[in-house]
Amino acid sequence: MHQDINFDQISLQLPPPVKEPERQYYFIAKCRQYVKEKSEELGRPLTCLVQTFGCQMNVRDSEKLLGILEQIGYIKTESQDADFVVYNTCTVREHANTKVYGHLGLIKHQKKRNPHMMIALCGCMMQEAHVVETIQKKYGFVDIVFGTHNVFKLAEILCSRIEAGSMIIDIWKDTDMIVEDLPAVREFPFKSGVNIMFGCNNFCSYCIVPYVRGRERSRNPEDILEEIRNLAKDGVVEIMLLGQNVNSYGKNLKQPVTFAQLLKQVVQIPGIERVRFMTSHPKDLSDELIDVIAANEKICRHLHLPVQSGSSRILEKMNRHYTKEGYLELVRKIKTKIPDISITTDIIVGFPGETEEDFADTMDVVEQVQYDAAFTFIYSRRTGTPAAGWETGATPEEIQDRYQRLLKRVQDIGAVNAKKLEGKILPVLVEEISGQDGSLLTGRLSNNLLVHFKGCPELIGQILPVRLNESKGFYYIGEMIEQE
Ligand code: 5AD
Ligand code: SF4
Repeated sequence: MHQDINFDQISLQLPPPVKEPERQYYFIAKCRQYVKEKSEELGRPLTCLVQTFGCQMNVRDSEKLLGILEQIGYIKTESQDADFVVYNTCTVREHANTKVYGHLGLIKHQKKRNPHMMIALCGCMMQEAHVVETIQKKYGFVDIVFGTHNVFKLAEILCSRIEAGSMIIDIWKDTDMIVEDLPAVREFPFKSGVNIMFGCNNFCSYCIVPYVRGRERSRNPEDILEEIRNLAKDGVVEIMLLGQNVNSYGKNLKQPVTFAQLLKQVVQIPGIERVRFMTSHPKDLSDELIDVIAANEKICRHLHLPVQSGSSRILEKMNRHYTKEGYLELVRKIKTKIPDISITTDIIVGFPGETEEDFADTMDVVEQVQYDAAFTFIYSRRTGTPAAGWETGATPEEIQDRYQRLLKRVQDIGAVNAKKLEGKILPVLVEEISGQDGSLLTGRLSNNLLVHFKGCPELIGQILPVRLNESKGFYYIGEMIEQE
């Protein structure tokens, strides 16, 4: 276990081990020397910033990056003028890329003032050849570029950079490797994401993820359960199981296991009070899973079930493998078996060839399902995906107009749904002091909605009953109920 490693006792006279994770422990020890010397030279500790763009997968990868950097000896900061800055990038839509280039433009000046500063780029954007070319041509001040498959190698890559004295680019096209047992730092002491699988095999025609995250690989159930047992011993009460499509978990393992079987084992781990998961592809959601959720109160009453479009014609072009009717039938089944479940979704507007009639189908699904929340996106062309070459169809103005109509409707429905829980007393996991009002705490309901209420910070990390006094659309103002 990495917790038991004394990095200062690793002999750097020997060549690095070939086996992982021992190889990385060796490079962590080597980087520690560099950081120690630099900080003695500067007369202060060295700081690091890990900035995350994108989804929960990236958030978790960033916790791993921070875990490695802290073992190397860097101190975490939120400031952009850190000694080591890493941007963990996203490329799911063009806007995510633009943001990263914007940050790079600004940080360039920081590096001029602090020449020993190290700038690293990693994550999904770096898996695209045209991005790496741009970095080489226009952003020569970047020190390290690596991808989604070799996050675990940060210490080794940093050593190479220090030895080479110039930009290191280390991108793997794909991998079947899963390196266990490296350090990770949790953003919250009481809740944690846990990867159960990596990659995606679905190739939805608009989506870049399968190209930048590679083929589906599931972790062994024993490794997952061991990680969660250790998290529980460390005070974690809520787990979020992470995968691009958790419903196909375990299909390619030597001894196949279903996601529902894994969930059943996770909820039995002592100390774990809540289990969430992300994301569910409708085509793979089994009856077995619905039954397991229905039978286990510890599994949160929230299902994120991306529909993407309500038009069967568009769904086929998207390569989603379900129809409008199939999706609606699935939702009916889920709501019948788990009446208090909250269903949320992702919707894309303006997919190539989408007509007003197709959009009307999307609006109809929104009406029928009555989602508690929906993430709505305007279609963004991703180079390398099949849809990138297809005609747009609607004009940008028409797409904007559809987007606004959709947004308004999903917000209104969400608000009406939220109102229904007003006055109820429900268990809440207290997460933090409210960002808007320092005298309030913010907690999360099983259905994923937030509640703000008066209370002292010592309650953070506990699950407590809170009365939902007033719904504010997508959050509540509540009041803690004294327990006997
Ligand atoms: N354009 C717009 N939205 C996209 N998504 C994925 N790819 C694209 C794209 N090219 C959305 C999908 C997915 C969510 C994570 O991002 O709705 O579920
Ligand atoms: Fe992208 Fe589809 Fe895979 Fe989700 S399931 S990551 S939308 S390809």
